Amino acid sequence: MKAEVKIISKVLLLMFFDFFNSGEVLAVNMTIPNTLIRGTVGGEALFSVRYSSFSPDLPVIKWQLKREKSVTIVQSIGTDIIGTPRPEYRDRILVFENGTLLLHNLRLSDDGTYDVEISITDDTFTGEGTITLTVDELISRPYIHMESSSVLELSENIVLNCSHENGTRTSYKWFKGGKPLTNETRFVLSPDQKLLTITRVLMTDDDIYSCTVENPVGSITSLPIKLTVYKRSSLYIILSTGGIFLLITLVTVCACWTPSKKPRHPPRKPLSRFYSNSHRAQITHTGTVV
Ligand SMILES: *[C@@H]1O[C@H](CO)[C@@H](O)[C@H](O)[C@H]1NC(C)=O
Ligand SMILES: *[C@@H]1O[C@H](CO)[C@@H](O)[C@H](O)[C@H]1NC(C)=O
Ligand SMILES: *[C@@H]1O[C@H](CO)[C@@H](O)[C@H](O)[C@H]1NC(C)=O
Ligand SMILES: *[C@@H]1O[C@H](CO)[C@@H](O)[C@H](O)[C@H]1NC(C)=O
Ligand SMILES: *[C@@H]1O[C@H](CO)[C@@H](O)[C@H](O)[C@H]1NC(C)=O
Repeated sequence: MKAEVKIISKVLLLMFFDFFNSGEVLAVNMTIPNTLIRGTVGGEALFSVRYSSFSPDLPVIKWQLKREKSVTIVQSIGTDIIGTPRPEYRDRILVFENGTLLLHNLRLSDDGTYDVEISITDDTFTGEGTITLTVDELISRPYIHMESSSVLELSENIVLNCSHENGTRTSYKWFKGGKPLTNETRFVLSPDQKLLTITRVLMTDDDIYSCTVENPVGSITSLPIKLTVYKRSSLYIILSTGGIFLLITLVTVCACWTPSKKPRHPPRKPLSRFYSNSHRAQITHTGTVV
């Protein structure tokens, strides 16, 4: 008994192998060049497949969208659609002879995984395949939004917001003077990188900034903005420098006009020596004079 069972199972196994190895297996053989495709809202998606079969019969093609409960998009015999497709697909689908589905006027809700089945009456095995479609919306040009002024006093903080209207699955990049910015102590990026906070601005932050928004269907850069950083004290420096200059001018003018002052020519000679390399010793000696 046991030996018989073994033999039978061996024979079955051999038959099974034979069945698959021989070229005469009756099966629809499906080829899918791309199992991941991308689309843009309003654009189209070509779910490209082709099949081969020994049977000359027309195939039954069935496309479904995987959801909790699969949604049939279209069923056709060859290119002839069977029945009436759902209203959301009615005017948006086309089936080609090779089994390919063209879906146009894409919507964000078309994003998902699609199953295709091609069966031919004579063939024992149905051809099956899966294609994943991602649908994205094009990004509109971003602009850098700021709550405060772009003219900053040294050590102030500023938040730059990379704003835009449309666009799905977006990611952000920031640039300072054309060079990419990374998360640092003073340049803090929000987790999604949409916001750039510059804490305690330095004079070196006086620069041009821009942001780039990217998604699977495009990338677009904002117009640059210029941040201006000033020192409050620089105002005083300008004023006091001006004051000192005025004072020196006045003193010089007075000196020229005072007849009792020494002539201007003799002291100039040693002065020119201070700047000559060959007289370093002299500089140190006369250093106290300066
Ligand atoms: C299916 O088709 C591909 C090429 O189109 C071929 O390489 C492969 O051997 C075929 N498979 C079967 C089981 O016929
Ligand atoms: C199937 O046919 C369509 C329309 O002719 C074509 O665009 C597509 O590339 C074909 N697919 C394959 C996998 O050959
Ligand atoms: C954003 O998308 C909507 C609808 O798709 C469109 O009406 C609007 O013009 C788009 N906005 C921009 C700035 O492109
Ligand atoms: C950034 O700008 C967008 C508008 O483009 C706005 O909805 C969002 O609240 C802003 N974020 C912050 C933190 O200001
Ligand atoms: C940048 O760093 C801050 C804190 O140091 C953190 O909260 C934030 O998530 C980081 N941003 C990114 C994009 O890693």
